Amino acid sequence: MSELITNIGELMTQDREQGTRRKAAVVLEGERIAWIGDAIHAPAADTVVDAQGRAVLPGWVDSHTHLIFAGDRTAEFEARVAGESYKAGGIAVSVEATRAASDYDLTRLGLGRVAEAMSQGTTYLETKTGYGLDVEEERRSARIASTVVDEVTFLGAHLVPQGIDADAYTELVCSEMLEAVRPYVSWADVFCERGAFTPEQSRRVLTACRAAGLGLRVHGNQLGHGEGVALAVEFGAASVDHVNFLTDDDVSALAQSWSGWDGAANAGRGAGVRGTVATVLPACDLSTRAPLAPAKRLVQAGVPIAIASNANPGTSYTSSMAFCVATAVLQMGLSVHEAVRAATFGGALALGRESGEDVDGQRAVGSIAVGHRADLHMLRAPSATHLAYRPGVPLTAAVWRAGVHAV
Ligand code: NIG
Repeated sequence: MSELITNIGELMTQDREQGTRRKAAVVLEGERIAWIGDAIHAPAADTVVDAQGRAVLPGWVDSHTHLIFAGDRTAEFEARVAGESYKAGGIAVSVEATRAASDYDLTRLGLGRVAEAMSQGTTYLETKTGYGLDVEEERRSARIASTVVDEVTFLGAHLVPQGIDADAYTELVCSEMLEAVRPYVSWADVFCERGAFTPEQSRRVLTACRAAGLGLRVHGNQLGHGEGVALAVEFGAASVDHVNFLTDDDVSALAQSWSGWDGAANAGRGAGVRGTVATVLPACDLSTRAPLAPAKRLVQAGVPIAIASNANPGTSYTSSMAFCVATAVLQMGLSVHEAVRAATFGGALALGRESGEDVDGQRAVGSIAVGHRADLHMLRAPSATHLAYRPGVPLTAAVWRAGVHAV
């Protein structure tokens, strides 16, 4: 089955060759993009969608979320609004509620959050474990996550549970817990921060997870300056996320990590040669009243960035990538093109899904190019600029995921 989407006012492909086209058309064939060109030259197809001059973008690629949780942290949020600062200790509240929830409820809640994201244009999602924090609960979170999202990250090293020695817990993460989650996850992450895991403990986690064949990611430099970025670069992590507090050396290390990359080759997921993406989380920065991550400074230094929602019950309870893009433009100083790129191609880059077909046969996501997965987001607006020009307005008109109408 083929489908022609024609009369597209602005087609922002995020593909190097195609760029942004006006009066364009796209043909989808099954799960893939089969043709891109001018609307007047569009070929026939089995079905036709008239975009009536509206804008079409790649579906959002949300490369950082924590969707497998139960419970509510409204009280913590209210305290923060009243002036308290974010403390990672709130994670323990979600751990307690998550452990108490049934498999059925965790799955239902996870699927509901994915549906909410998809209804706003998200077509590819990563999520993390990290509200289980013992061997069986982390295994359960990883198993459930693998049934609701595209990519699962093991975050046993999210917080040291109360009453447990931090080094003993780190050892558990690196051994039994890693083995328990291994069948369900392709990535590992560590919260390298004062109050969470020290650089030395983070190093142990990254070493063990790399040896187990997982791609690496790091929560780093969120609450203060630290070694998260340096560790992520040293280990060839695919991304370092948050990055609110960066020194010039951190920015240079991130830029340097991409020096051998030609921007096209897919060197393999999590492979060090690809460099480390800096993932900024605008909604989290607003919700925690943290200094905004220096997205513009990173872009100007040549560091590829991703924008993600960081949907989680503590620091960023939103699934709206459009809100994150608007915030990145209005508060972080990115251009609309830079922000949309970071929320589509950038997310795919952070997940090693930006080009080619991977070993497991998946198509590229995050940009509109022939052969890529047909993940498209049509706006109820003539251009992507409206995402920032009309912040907070629901602008999703239609969504295709792998060629299927999702909205
Ligand atoms: O990415 N920083 C650590 N983890 C989450 C917050 C999790 C929570 O507070 O529940 C984050 O912001």
